[in-house]
Amino acid sequence: MNPVVASEVARRCVYPGSFDPVTLGHVDVVRRLVRLFDEVVVAVLHNPDKVGTFAPEQRVAFVTEAVAGLPGVRVVCHGGRLLVDVCRDLGAGVVVKGVRGSGDVAQEWQMALMNRHLSGVETLLLPADPRYAHISSSLVRQVNAYGGDVHDLVPEAVRQALTGRR
Ligand code: PNS
Repeated sequence: MNPVVASEVARRCVYPGSFDPVTLGHVDVVRRLVRLFDEVVVAVLHNPDKVGTFAPEQRVAFVTEAVAGLPGVRVVCHGGRLLVDVCRDLGAGVVVKGVRGSGDVAQEWQMALMNRHLSGVETLLLPADPRYAHISSSLVRQVNAYGGDVHDLVPEAVRQALTGRR
């Protein structure tokens, strides 16, 4: 079962995702986690069900810039690894996922149980702030690709990079 002791669980969490690219919804989750945990590790990972758009290094750079100034936050990148192995190396027993609705919950539920089965790591689901519940990285990419304005959906550096890709 979970080798991480209770005090560590309360202090540190891992917020994983593909962040392709990071959105204002992701940034809001990190802001809220900073108030709950001493340390928040944002883990940029590979989702084998998704075709990557931005290179992992670029995603990390965008996330790092977006969370700069938030205390106790660090960003890591582990392309070909299981989330549970990343958590084990970090000594983290809690994973947090943001959920925008019942569709997200259903998907996260299964992953949470699988991750708990694999290592004992627990997953907490944080409901998205309604101001950001309509935002996803894939919709942002789509809106941008067809010429839509994404300035209030993503950090400015991401907006500029997306606009340059049209
Ligand atoms: O932002 P996403 O795409 O919803 O994040 C999904 C992600 C990257 C967290 C998930 O695909 C993941 O954990 N990838 C690492 C590989 C892994 O551990 N797979 C088993 C999940 S039960």
